[in-house]
Amino acid sequence: MDQIIVTGNGPLSGQIPIAGAKNACLTLMPATLLSEEPLTLTNAPRLSDIRTMTTLLQSLGAEVQSLQDGQVLAMSSHDLTSTRAEYDIVRKMRASILVLGPLLARFGHAEVSLPGGCAIGARPVDLHLKAFEAMGAELELRDGYVHAKAPVGGLRGGIVEFPFVSVGATENALMAATLAKGTTVLMNAAREPEIVDLAQCLQKMGAQIDGEGTSEITVQGVDRLGGATHRVVTDRIELGTYMLAPAICGGEVECLGGTINLLAAFCEKLDAAGISVEETPNGLKVARKGGRVSAVDVTTEPFPGFPTDLQAQMMALLCTAEGTSVLEEKIFENRFMHAPELIRMGASIDVHGGTATVKGVDHLKGAPVMATDLRASVSLILAGLAAEGETVVSRVYHLDRGYEHVVRKLEGVGAKIERVKEQ
Ligand code: EPZ
Repeated sequence: MDQIIVTGNGPLSGQIPIAGAKNACLTLMPATLLSEEPLTLTNAPRLSDIRTMTTLLQSLGAEVQSLQDGQVLAMSSHDLTSTRAEYDIVRKMRASILVLGPLLARFGHAEVSLPGGCAIGARPVDLHLKAFEAMGAELELRDGYVHAKAPVGGLRGGIVEFPFVSVGATENALMAATLAKGTTVLMNAAREPEIVDLAQCLQKMGAQIDGEGTSEITVQGVDRLGGATHRVVTDRIELGTYMLAPAICGGEVECLGGTINLLAAFCEKLDAAGISVEETPNGLKVARKGGRVSAVDVTTEPFPGFPTDLQAQMMALLCTAEGTSVLEEKIFENRFMHAPELIRMGASIDVHGGTATVKGVDHLKGAPVMATDLRASVSLILAGLAAEGETVVSRVYHLDRGYEHVVRKLEGVGAKIERVKEQ
């Protein structure tokens, strides 16, 4: 297994290119199941999760070609051979559940393994299933699988009211509604940029969708969808992660491809902490010129609020802030597992339920630490960039799920970082 070794090396400077969004690509790829015609995605990120989704689609009989060094995905579901998503693939990645809506809508039936537990929370899929029931589907949980059946004539349009915001349930219901008979209204829908990106791709395929990006999305079902070519939106979580690198160690870095509207709530917190963020023709320039950052309080919320996927990275910054910060995690019930690892590096953090109190210390010290999930792993790397001495991060396979070329990108702005085989 690989490890990443980071040595604190002072201020950073230069440019970091930001890739296409993992969480957009993982819902755009299943959209190919809605049509007989080819769907091509450009600006696709090169990540292990994308490879898992490729394996899943191919197991259903879809063609998925990875071109141009993996940045272009040419897909076709013209000759699908199965509507069953096997546990062996689904257990590797929860987003696999996003094939259920498209399969049910186009073929009238599907069997998809339930994803099982996750490090950051229980993460049930009940809202997904309720949405399909609201469109007339019959669902049965049997042998660890969801067995779904559409009514004769296919799914019917309906009112889907989410009791709380769910990104995945909104995406699954949105895809299914494109081929349902009549009108579907998704109420209290998620508003994330990845949802808008999915809706725009579906519109290119011929879907009739209004209200994407708001909490009420209306879909007029059509008989069939065509093909399209679609550019995957920038990864705002990768963007936010690299914006924190100069914030933590000082210096100035331009993140290529980023825009403030993808991360307004996050940028407000950086500003309050004393970090300057400036839009440039190519992206966002982030700088920390002065001394220590100021403590700020953060509460994670659905978009346009502060993203939960940047909470761990923000905690790494606040470990050496002037003063005490309170972080509230409102989306997932178990998303502070990076805290004990940061404490190993000398941080002062108190966790009670969904609240973490971070008392800023002068500096962190390098130590051997363990990655526990995707965002936790990169928060340890960020902390290591500013720590005295060497930080050795183990279990970096978590990182590969969501970050491409971390070592090359950070080295490119002056970080001292390397990837090694575990001894
Ligand atoms: C998406 O997960 C992202 N994953 C997550 O990113 C992200 O943290 C999350 O949205 C919130 O922004 C992908 O897009 C692949 P939810 P998703 O449904 O769709 C509960 C990362 O690091 N819930 O919005 O699974 C759920 O347990 C990952 O890249 C139900 O109870 O998130 C959670 O507490 C991690 N029942 C809350 O809602 C349901 O049926 C929000 O989950 C669905 C969700």
